[in-house]
Amino acid sequence: MFTIAEHRDETPTTRTIIFKEKLAAVPGQFVMVWVPGVDEFPMSASYTSKDFGITYQVIGDGTKALAAKDVGERIGIRGPYGKGFAIHGKRLLMVAGGAGMAPLAPFIEESVDHKVIVDLVLGAKTKDELLFEGRAERAGAKVHVSTDDGSKGLKGLATESVASVLRNEKFDCIYACGPEKMIVGLLEIAEKHGTPMQASLERIMKCGIGICDSCALDGRHVCRDGPVFSELELRSFEELGRTKLDTSGRKVRI
Ligand SMILES: Cc1cc2nc3c(=O)[nH]c(=O)nc-3n(C[C@H](O)[C@H](O)[C@H](O)COP(=O)(O)OP(=O)(O)OC[C@H]3O[C@@H](n4cnc5c(N)ncnc54)[C@H](O)[C@@H]3O)c2cc1C
Ligand code: FES
Repeated sequence: MFTIAEHRDETPTTRTIIFKEKLAAVPGQFVMVWVPGVDEFPMSASYTSKDFGITYQVIGDGTKALAAKDVGERIGIRGPYGKGFAIHGKRLLMVAGGAGMAPLAPFIEESVDHKVIVDLVLGAKTKDELLFEGRAERAGAKVHVSTDDGSKGLKGLATESVASVLRNEKFDCIYACGPEKMIVGLLEIAEKHGTPMQASLERIMKCGIGICDSCALDGRHVCRDGPVFSELELRSFEELGRTKLDTSGRKVRI
């Protein structure tokens, strides 16, 4: 069991927990978070260097119960699991949609520590929901903001902002985490510019270690083979952006 050392609001719908205990996770890896008596669900490590922490959007019963936990209370943590992001080159473009910024924030910090130049396209519904904008700027990333309602930065989708950034600059690799439709759009843009890409995917996860099959995607397990996949792997997925398994294992449209 891990003890909550700090529990803070990041945006109106997103909160961060920093734990007393340390955990050696790399950016892009996830942990299974167990809220006793409620549920267990996957969360990316959003702090991976000095502290270990997670950043979550409050959406359903599990995350609502998590949001009600106070400093000093204990919750279950299994992991870290899966494959994280790998630095590929000296000039990187990261693209985050909503809570997708959670695993990219520590990766930006790690990349800058390795003397890599980072641009970030940060997308959200409104300016209040922009996650870790200040954190990315403090780390040294050049941040390009886009919001669906135009309340800050470019009005429109993150993919439109990426297309405009790529018109003027060249990058060694694109990294993405966010809605699957955004990832599908980025794959097209990356191909057009001949830029490699890595993206973190989400599927329902129960075991987190490749046993239960609930995270199956075209014969792979997102929990063990991902959640970060290379461009080649992403292109091989016929189900990407189209279908996924729901909590009862039925294939549903995305
Ligand atoms: C590898 C991975 C990393 C993730 N990292 C983050 C993160 O850093 N921050 C964040 O806010 N969210 C993250 N998620 C999504 C997060 O797991 C779900 O939002 C969370 O489980 C919702 O639980 P709930 O009980 O509040 O909502 P529910 O009402 O139970 O579910 C709401 C939606 O969340 C998704 N979900 C529910 N249970 C699971 C599950 N066991 N596995 C995957 N998705 C589920 C489903 O799409 C569901 O429709 C991650 C998911 C994966 C697979
Ligand atoms: S979550 Fe069980 S196999 Fe991936």
